[in-house]
Amino acid sequence: MSGFETYLMSRMAREDSHTLEGYKAQGGYATLERVLKDMQPSEVTEIVKASGLRGRGGAGFPTGLKWTFMPDASKDPRDRYLAINGDESEPGTCKDRVILDEDPHGLIEGVLMACYAMGCAASYIYIRGEYRHQYRRTEAAIAEARAAGLIGKNILGSGFDCEIYMHMGAGAYICGEETGMMESLEGKRGHPRPKPPFPAGFGLWGQPTTVNNVETIFNVPFIVERGAEWHRSMGTEKSPGNILVGISGNVKRPGVYEAPLGISAKTLLESPDFAGGLHDGRKLKAWFTGGSSTGMVPGSTIDTPMDHDGMQSIGAMLGTAAMIMIDDSQCVVRAMEVVARFYDHESCGQCSQCREGTQWLHQIFRRIEQGKGLPQDVDMLTAIASGMAPGKTICALSDAAAIPANQMVKHFRAELEEHIQSGGCRINHTGNFARGASAPTEVHA
Ligand SMILES: Cc1cc2nc3c(=O)[nH]c(=O)nc-3n(C[C@H](O)[C@H](O)[C@H](O)COP(=O)(O)O)c2cc1C
Repeated sequence: MSGFETYLMSRMAREDSHTLEGYKAQGGYATLERVLKDMQPSEVTEIVKASGLRGRGGAGFPTGLKWTFMPDASKDPRDRYLAINGDESEPGTCKDRVILDEDPHGLIEGVLMACYAMGCAASYIYIRGEYRHQYRRTEAAIAEARAAGLIGKNILGSGFDCEIYMHMGAGAYICGEETGMMESLEGKRGHPRPKPPFPAGFGLWGQPTTVNNVETIFNVPFIVERGAEWHRSMGTEKSPGNILVGISGNVKRPGVYEAPLGISAKTLLESPDFAGGLHDGRKLKAWFTGGSSTGMVPGSTIDTPMDHDGMQSIGAMLGTAAMIMIDDSQCVVRAMEVVARFYDHESCGQCSQCREGTQWLHQIFRRIEQGKGLPQDVDMLTAIASGMAPGKTICALSDAAAIPANQMVKHFRAELEEHIQSGGCRINHTGNFARGASAPTEVHA
């Protein structure tokens, strides 16, 4: 794609991009060396702050600002940690996987810079249990970096000590929530903690901790090397830089692509440089904008800038920029039933609103999808979702389940009602049933 630079994926074309040799051949670790030699920790934080980098884990919180919440290392003698969130369990999201697979040294260099900036002598990289290959790749990269004097004591003779440890999750979405992840790292069940206290004051083992997403930290070496102004020259004013976008669903070329924030979602869907459009003859019926938690919006909203404000303008969220495209051959009620089943399965059960609410949402979407819905079900979905969010529980899993339910009722009420009235779906999804329909024809086109 012409017109913008793809720096995040720039090293990944090389066969050996995941090795120390491949990384160093492309300039890797040169910026770290310069940072340790010539820069004060606070200067690194200032560059990241000025760059406007926003977290890529879903909430879009400004990264440099988050780092400043850590207590001043010169005045607070406590140990402090950086925890890297590579749990990546949000449905539709698979961009951290690409980084861990193809450029793990880029993440390691970012971890070392962030630890230097915040005075952390140790970092933990938490990787989802299903990412075995990515875990091994990153583990091998850490071993190479350690052998080369880039991890451990007195890194590159600078006097800076930093250890990096890895931890594999066991397939629980809740362990991607930052405090659930910390509990899991401590060897406990991944139950989120009430906040406050926030991680910067009371994190891993009660010590100051910053949690950042893999892609967020992967951005840091590029920004420190080329400067805050360079980063701000791309993307939009409030959402600068490039982002890794995952596009899945009924598209010709599903995959992970790099694009500047603010690019039209329509371009990402239709351009041959990105997803290449829907399958021939199809129309876009709906799309999840940034992972399942952001909910489904109608296909008519597709020409909207992919950035935090753009997504907000259509009542959605950028989330993890994981776009899931649903064409007019699909049933949105069925898609929603799958999503509701996921949240029902993944709720940790600590908060009654979430434990009960996710179960009820799933049961109701399931019965509507199966053609057994009751006339009052649609309003009941809204009532249940309003008891779950916003901010009514220890963590945001409850919100993540309630938002798509609300979006569904708001945008696709007619389809829900039609399923209830006609006793099921008339789209023949699987080729072997079409409940309540006299023939397996498509009625939603
Ligand atoms: C239920 C739930 C699951 C989450 N899963 C992830 C995840 O897999 N990866 C991630 O980076 N953040 C996830 N988050 C967000 C994290 O709590 C946290 O905001 C993020 O890791 C911060 O990193 P950032 O500031 O770099 O974006 C999740 C949040 C919730 C509520």
